[in-house]
Amino acid sequence: MSKIEQNITADQDATSANNAKPAEGQKVFIKTFGCQMNVYDSERMSDALAKDGYTPTDTPEDADLVLLNTCHIREKAAEKVYSDLGRLNQMKKKRMDEGGSDLMVAVAGCVAQAEGEEIIKRSPVVNMVIGPATYHQLPDALGRARKGERVVETEFTEDDKFEHLPKAEKKQIRSRGVTAFLTVQEGCDKFCTFCVVPYTRGAEISRPVSQLLSEAQDLVDAGVREITLLGQNVNAWHGKGDDGREWGLGELLHRLSDMEGIERLRYTTSHPRDMDAALINAHRDLDKLMPYLHLPVQAGSDKILKAMNRRHTRDEYIKLIARIREGRPDLAISGDFIVGFPGETEDDFEDTLDLIRQVKYAQAYSFKYSPRPGTPGADFKDHVPEDVKADRLKRLQALLSEQQLEFAETCVGKDMDILLEKPGRKPGQLIGRSPWLQSVIIDAKDAKIGDTLRVRITKAAPYSLMADVI
Ligand code: SAH
Ligand code: SF4
Ligand code: F3S
Repeated sequence: MSKIEQNITADQDATSANNAKPAEGQKVFIKTFGCQMNVYDSERMSDALAKDGYTPTDTPEDADLVLLNTCHIREKAAEKVYSDLGRLNQMKKKRMDEGGSDLMVAVAGCVAQAEGEEIIKRSPVVNMVIGPATYHQLPDALGRARKGERVVETEFTEDDKFEHLPKAEKKQIRSRGVTAFLTVQEGCDKFCTFCVVPYTRGAEISRPVSQLLSEAQDLVDAGVREITLLGQNVNAWHGKGDDGREWGLGELLHRLSDMEGIERLRYTTSHPRDMDAALINAHRDLDKLMPYLHLPVQAGSDKILKAMNRRHTRDEYIKLIARIREGRPDLAISGDFIVGFPGETEDDFEDTLDLIRQVKYAQAYSFKYSPRPGTPGADFKDHVPEDVKADRLKRLQALLSEQQLEFAETCVGKDMDILLEKPGRKPGQLIGRSPWLQSVIIDAKDAKIGDTLRVRITKAAPYSLMADVI
């Protein structure tokens, strides 16, 4: 995670002992689980820790502080955290036996929020548990943990944590590459019956326009060319624009699109119910908005959609996509699917397969339903047996992979712009990103990372495309 170069003395008087930072010379290893919002949060926590004196390291063995930024979405995701904590416990014991330095362990993210105190009880190695709503209190909480307190910070406060979290330095932004995430919205009020997010991330909040424009400008000034706006329900974002009007995500995208230096915009994850006309039109009108939309549907049967509390029908979803594609015919769709939700019959599942055939997905994520404590779905009747879930997942994924390959093959022979992101495996190679998020490998002599290049696709492989520079 933290391959971050830092200049920790850049803005301080290094000669003054009084200015010594609390954790000067200490190293932090951050491991991130779950969604892109956690990736963004880990970066912001890394920035906050840098101000405290911590430098990032790539290995837990090397670290004075290990921070696990966790995910609670499915049982497996949450379990991973406890196996990691077990390993850290062993590592700490070994270190102590060998007379090495102390190890501090902090658990952040959605498991921290959902289980709080419980983690401290279950895992003796944990010094601190901090939920996503309280990251601005991280340095203070760490200070208390260093003094021996076992800290649990999981309150949802009124504070704007983003206002209090320090900005990244230019050098840090640069080291993270030419694409960046920007969280614009957090939390969820939708309460789908399978989902923990409304409980772990709290109620929906939208960050103010001025804050977002200033952060976007900092990213661009540091060389970022593509920004992905993030939110658990990113298209529920709204706020007062700098023209005095109330904006939705469509208006925000317009404003960002006018910002010089930004070449590409994306957003994720959106809910079908929050796709308003301005956002749909933004797909038609903004060249910088990439023709790729992650729009999860979860299931294709109206009965299951209702039980999931998705609050739209299968037909509304299909029509919505047709409407967006009218303005942007080259739009590719990506989705999320859950198989084996309580009450799902073979017929319901067939409806999901049928919806997939109609929509045609370029990319998708699919999961077996995992009952989560505290969500309504966990108490529903007619849970689907594990072997049936496994069989349905296999069939669903076979269809989705077929569609994914088909999509990649339709790209062969096409010309497109790619944004160069990193060096390839072989000398002289560079890897760029297509508008549809595919990795594209080219041999480029004069090009450099951050450039946008026109290329012709020559070959499609399952996970990447090959191309010639035109
Ligand atoms: N806000 C997004 C989803 C966030 S969670 C949306 O509304 O689409 C990411 C994905 O995890 C979900 O889309 C869903 O497919 C999956 N997921 C969430 N809870 C799950 C559960 N209990 N079991 C299996 N998959 C789940
Ligand atoms: Fe979870 Fe539904 Fe909210 Fe998405 S919209 S985060 S799936 S409750
Ligand atoms: Fe996981 Fe929390 Fe994201 S549960 S998917 S890390 S919002």
